Order: sequence, then C-alpha cells, then structure tokens
Amino acid sequence: MQKGVRDFLRILEQNEELVVVNKKVNPLHVSALISDSNKAVLLRDVDGYDMPIVGGLVRDTRKIALGLECRHDEIAQRLSNAIQNPVETVIVKDAPLKEIIIGEKDIDLTLLPQIMQHEKDGGPYIGSGVQFAVHETWGKDAGIYRHMFRTQNTMGVDFNSPNDIRLFYSDAYEKGKPLEMAVAIGLHPIELLAADCSAATGLYEMTIAGGLRKEPVEMIPCETIDVEVPANAEIVLECEVLPTGWTTDEGRYGEFHGISGDVKKNPVVKVKTITRRKDAIFHSLIMPWEVYGLGAPNRELQAYNILKAVRLRPKAIRTTVGSCNFFELIVALDNPKPGEGKAAITALMAMMGVKLITVVDDDIDIYDDEQVRWAVALRMQADKDVLIVSNLQAKHVDPSVRSSELPKGQMPTTSKMGIDATIPVGIPRKAYERLQYFNPDNVHLSDYLD
Ligand SMILES: Cc1cc2nc3c(=O)[nH]c(=O)nc-3n(C[C@H](O)[C@H](O)[C@H](O)COP(=O)(O)O)c2cc1C
Repeated sequence: MQKGVRDFLRILEQNEELVVVNKKVNPLHVSALISDSNKAVLLRDVDGYDMPIVGGLVRDTRKIALGLECRHDEIAQRLSNAIQNPVETVIVKDAPLKEIIIGEKDIDLTLLPQIMQHEKDGGPYIGSGVQFAVHETWGKDAGIYRHMFRTQNTMGVDFNSPNDIRLFYSDAYEKGKPLEMAVAIGLHPIELLAADCSAATGLYEMTIAGGLRKEPVEMIPCETIDVEVPANAEIVLECEVLPTGWTTDEGRYGEFHGISGDVKKNPVVKVKTITRRKDAIFHSLIMPWEVYGLGAPNRELQAYNILKAVRLRPKAIRTTVGSCNFFELIVALDNPKPGEGKAAITALMAMMGVKLITVVDDDIDIYDDEQVRWAVALRMQADKDVLIVSNLQAKHVDPSVRSSELPKGQMPTTSKMGIDATIPVGIPRKAYERLQYFNPDNVHLSDYLD
C-alpha cells in the first residue's frame, strides 16, 4: 500500500490527476493556480522558497479513492470498517523527516511557503497541518486545524469548535500549562481522512488510519516534545500551545462554506523545533476545496449510521459539492417500503446543518444528477412528498440563519426540507421502465468511425 504523500503523487500522475508546473510562480498566485484545476497541482518553483508546493491533493473523493485504492462510493464504508477495526501504530527509530532539524533559536516560519490564500485573509495560513497531542486521561489525538502566521516562531490556531484537541488544551489552560502539540505537514490522504474523522474521544485517529491501511501507521517520536508523528510526514513543527487562552485575534480566513469568516479570539502556538526532509514538499491546502473531499466520507458515514440505527436500508448516500459537502444529502434506499422515504428524511433532519435531503429508490444512480432530477420530476408530488420542518439546529455560518442578530450565546435555528422522490405507493415499478435501445452494449459509434 502507498505510504507517504510521495507515493500518492505518483499514483495521481499515473491516473492523470496531477498537473506539474515548472515555471516560476508568484506566491500570491498559488491559491488561484491550484483552484484553477480539478486535478492536484504541483508547483515546483515558488518564488522565494526552497521547496515545491502541492495543492488540491484531496479536493474530491475520486482522488481520495486513489489513495485508499478503492472505488469512490466505497470510501465511507471503508472508513466505517476502519473505525470498527482500528490497528495500533508502531514506532520507528529513523525517517527522512529527521534529515534537517532546526532548533528553537533558528526557527523562522517565514521560510515555509505559507501563502495568502484569499483576498480577505488576515495573513498567510498553513491549511494542511495535522495536529498531534497526548492527554493523560484521554490518550493520543490527531485533528486538522488551520494555523495563521503571526511571528517568526508563533502561529495562531482555531480552537473554537468542541473538538478533542480543544478539550486537551482547555484542560492544560485551566492548569496554567502549555499543551505540547506537533503539526505534521505533507501527509498521505489516509492519515488526512482519519484525522478529520470525529472519532469518539479516546479513539486515536492514527489507529483508524491503520484500519484503513490494514497495517500499522509508522510513527516517530518528536525531538523536543513527548508526542509522536507519522514518520512519512514531509515537515513537522514541534510546538507548545501557550496557556494564554482565547485572547489573540485570529482570522479572517476563507471558511469551508466559501465565505470569509470573522476575526476570532484564539490561543497562540509557539514553534520550538522544526524537522523536515531535505527535499520536503509543502502541501498547501487551499480552502475550501480539500475540506469538501475530506468531509464527504465523514458526513456520509454519519448519515449511513443514523439510517442503520433506525432500521432503514441505505444503498448509497452522497453529499453535494455545491452544498459544501455538508448542507445537502442525496440517499438511495434499498427497495423502500411505504413510509421509509419520509422516515429517512426525518431521521437525517436531525443532522446539524443538513438543510436539504432527497431520497430516491435503488434504481437511481445518486452520483448522476440527471437521474436524481428525473426521479424528482416523475416520482414526487409536492403536496405529499415535500417535508418542511422549522426551528431545527443550524450551522451558524449560514448567513440565512441570521446568527449575528441573536443574543450572544444563543444558537441559531433553521428550517429544513426533504423531498421523497421514491416511487409513490400504488404505482408499480413497471411504470418507470426506462427506454431501451437495440443491443446498446454491443453497438458502439466508435466501431463505425474511420
Ligand atoms: C482542512 C481542514 C481544516 C480544518 N480546520 C479546522 C479548524 O481550524 N478548527 C476546527 O475546529 N476544526 C477544523 N477542522 C475540523 C477538525 O479537523 C475535525 O473536526 C476533527 O475531527 C478534529 O479532531 P479532534 O476532535 O480529534 O481534535 C478542519 C478540517 C479540515 C478537513
């Protein structure tokens, strides 16, 4: 199986999913260049930096599937199996990651190709860092958090959501201690996908990565903090999150929903040591595209588990890129019985942020928008099959929920809609028999061309 990001780049290239740029690139143009392609983009020569930048690595599930060596519609299920069958990590003693070790006095974060991603960003950001930390009670943890450049040896971090590393930090902060944390840059999609997984506190995401790999992830100890990182990382920042609390401005930054977020109060991270490969490749994760690729399997898995819990039979589930792979779900049910389409809708409305759900039968390919539209056009009766429910939990970043008009601390609510586009009760499947051409599997236009 592929190990690090270099193996993955080779696979992307073999599958024509990588564009390589050899010309010198202005750092301010990096985000526009990477966003201009559906393929991953490797910029070999970025003006002012001694390392290439790669971006768009996990911008869609097609690429993640290449990393997992499976079909794109199998990713969520693979993730589910890995969560149920985690594999312990192993420690290795040496790795190219230790080829260069930069000590505290020589740290200069301006040497890393952190770039300004969006016009309104408050500064250059590292978007691809995976953070590793350990807690005496909850064990080891990995997550993905952004870092805003602050000074030569300090960065911001966004610890505003109720995630595990925030929990570790809150505990350290209450004790007046810094939290030791390593930031690994340049990881394979398997480790990225696992790190983005909202696993139960105490379930170490790198054991989920091991479950996806069906072999242990190789970890290597840091030099100056008591934390391990994947040995295949390109660059690692060994850090302390200072016990200052949420006191320093961080942001603005282009958020996952494609809109610039507000300035937030966040902690400060001090970088103590940097270890890196001599020929390190810097993964520049440009928001929002790669969050969509990583977020989709996690979101689809959550929906799958909800439907299974209420004894429905999901055949396929997908989020849509247009909805930031977050706000919309399309579900195919296996031979749905009367009432099951609407049962699926009401169950999935409980997912925070999901605003639009379409449920179809298993004869519809949910990855083909035209087929889904066809089902909606011919199987839905709006007065019977559209469910609208008001005042459900909302994601605060959605401008239409008017979070800013609410009293401080009050969570916004939203209305949600579900479309039951399964075949209506009493109409036989035969009524939807599709047109067939004569012998379509054996008749090909290409055979008739000169
Ligand atoms: C590219 C990317 C960037 C992310 N940045 C942040 C962030 O800055 N702050 C945050 O709270 N969550 C962020 N997330 C979501 C967390 O990584 C995710 O919730 C993860 O499960 C947290 O892990 P933990 O609970 O083990 O700490 C990001 C996710 C991705 C894919």
